[in-house]
Amino acid sequence: NRHLISAADLTKDDALLILDTAEELARVSERSIKKLPTLRGRTVVNLFFEDSTRTRISFEAAAKRLSADVINFSAKGSSVSKGESLKDTALTLEAMGADAVVIRHGASGAPHRLANWVRGSVVNAGDGTHEHPTQALLDAFSMRRRLGNLEGRKVTIVGDVLHSRVARSNVLLLATLGADVTLVAPPTLLPVSIGTWPCEVSYDLDSVLPKSDVVMMLRVQKERMNAAYFPSEREYSRRYGLDRDRFAKMPDDAIVMHPGPMNRGMEIAAEVADSPRSTIVEQVANGVTIRMAVLYLLLGGEI
Ligand code: CP
Repeated sequence: NRHLISAADLTKDDALLILDTAEELARVSERSIKKLPTLRGRTVVNLFFEDSTRTRISFEAAAKRLSADVINFSAKGSSVSKGESLKDTALTLEAMGADAVVIRHGASGAPHRLANWVRGSVVNAGDGTHEHPTQALLDAFSMRRRLGNLEGRKVTIVGDVLHSRVARSNVLLLATLGADVTLVAPPTLLPVSIGTWPCEVSYDLDSVLPKSDVVMMLRVQKERMNAAYFPSEREYSRRYGLDRDRFAKMPDDAIVMHPGPMNRGMEIAAEVADSPRSTIVEQVANGVTIRMAVLYLLLGGEI
């Protein structure tokens, strides 16, 4: 594959190659080797039309640790505010010699369009409500590091599935890797296509928690919400929030995940987010490693 646009495009062998490459790279970092010469002379452009903390910074860190040159583009402050189109922006970057373009965009499908306009590899860093494949890869990597093989593992994903590109990419990738996924959400926060997703659906979090190896809480995307989907924060938190009492219903060795950013006190209690069984900070560190593996494999560097 030249691009990474959707978790749906990854075979099990592709996914395992990325996870195993990340494992190798993690071992190199653990030997205090901070920088590899692998992508020297290559240019990675981070093209962000939507806000990001983790994804943008970790792609930058990943490219720099592989010795690539990095250009950071954010739509705010660029000629996009003067009406320049995605295509013209992409062609401008192409003229500057991008070997890989990492794109986050509010429109589902934007990375797919971009792949028709540039010669370099395109990596989807989140497109609208569609997909966020490197988030799913870093989540799978984090689960595998804590729990081992994911085959047959029970993963529960809870919350605002309707607006979540993280949920879709995770469901697709985890199904490919042989895990059993259950989505738990209010009916108004599930997409109409949910029947075609390779997972189970439940509306009763308390009954699913005791059978879960992993509980992944999703951010309630208030910026995309209206009253039809979401009547009240208090009611949501009462029925779908992971508080101390619910956390106690999970098996002792089960882990808690969240892609961030979190609404502490709403979908997840602060003490649960900060518990030793939470992988939230590990997920961020693993994000750099996974993005190194993706850039390394797409740009064909050699260790
Ligand atoms: N998880 C995630 O994509 O976070 P950012 O929006 O901060 O990149």
